[in-house]
Amino acid sequence: MTTTQIDPAVVEAKAGVAFGALIGAVTAGTIYLGERLGLYRAMAGAGPLTSAELAGRTGLHERWLREWLRGQAAATLLDYRGNDTYELVPEAALVLADEENPASAIGAFSAVPSVMGLFERLEGPFHTGIGLTYDDDGPAVAEMVDRMFGPWNRTALISEALPKVDGAIARLEAGVKVADVGCGAAAAIIALAKAFPKSEFHGYDNSRFALERAAKHLAEAGVTNVTIHNSDTDPLPATPTFDLVFCLDCLHDMNRPDLAAAAIRKAITPDGTWFIADIESSENFEENFQNPLAPMLYGSSIMLCMSSSSCTPDGLALGTVGLPEPKMRELVLNAGFGKLERVPGLVHPMNAYYQARL
Ligand SMILES: C[S@@+](CC[C@H](N)C(=O)[O-])C[C@H]1O[C@@H](n2cnc3c(N)ncnc32)[C@H](O)[C@@H]1O
Repeated sequence: MTTTQIDPAVVEAKAGVAFGALIGAVTAGTIYLGERLGLYRAMAGAGPLTSAELAGRTGLHERWLREWLRGQAAATLLDYRGNDTYELVPEAALVLADEENPASAIGAFSAVPSVMGLFERLEGPFHTGIGLTYDDDGPAVAEMVDRMFGPWNRTALISEALPKVDGAIARLEAGVKVADVGCGAAAAIIALAKAFPKSEFHGYDNSRFALERAAKHLAEAGVTNVTIHNSDTDPLPATPTFDLVFCLDCLHDMNRPDLAAAAIRKAITPDGTWFIADIESSENFEENFQNPLAPMLYGSSIMLCMSSSSCTPDGLALGTVGLPEPKMRELVLNAGFGKLERVPGLVHPMNAYYQARL
């Protein structure tokens, strides 16, 4: 009989990793509170502050703020400046206090408690194989997605991405018809509609909560060149209509992205361009494993992406890293497109960008 030798150093290392995850989860909760309570916004541009000064700025309780400030400094989100003073440096403010720049990350924390609550419902899918839709747990996921992707969609999409997509800006300026399939709360097309008033924009999604947010954003923006469609009841037209089609971080979430790609093939004009953003990944786990974001990608997959992609028995269950470039090419070419290429020079820490043509 062999006995397993336990190496105490490895036990310690594994416990360190496990508690590191717990540190992340708890810190995510305190970031959520910081955003809800307006603390990052109150600290932005203020220089080093004591808890009493922050209490003065926010009307909140000094003792609770002191505990929060110390935790945030320990997590290195705030910079500790000595004498019980804490600073949100301008770089951190871009990440935590401003949702109108591409480095903004705060939206990802906007619904942390509700979205983490999804885990309570995810034992079932491990037995049945059938996941939850984006809407199954209420509006929290739609809020998180909107606020997580909105900053990039409202800023860098127009200033950095589209100038690199062949002819996109000239077409948009001249006036074309554009579809955003899996548009979520429509941040991208509303921003595009403002920037390119001669073009006409159509958003498609099947999440009731995302569509409700889209309708609200649309009313606030006051643009008249955007129409939002529920893709389940009002799908893409089956005749060539759109000169540009967008799919921003959504194909891997769909139960049948193959059917969505086939519908896009029918709806795009002969010289149209399909611009796709999806997660940068590899077909090989051994390569994905090297990605520092991998634990989050596989975890979010269970929480949202693979869950949504397997919400029907015929769902492809792709998962967050389910569309690496070769699979994306297969999906797009099988739908009848002639070519798929990377958008030259467009890079992002998490996403790959493609343009497809007939
Ligand atoms: C990660 S979100 C991205 C949303 C948006 N493109 C953005 O950048 O904010 C994925 C979107 O795909 C939508 N989606 C998932 N399955 C879908 C389906 N079968 N048909 C239409 N939309 C779908 C979800 O409702 C969700 O809004």
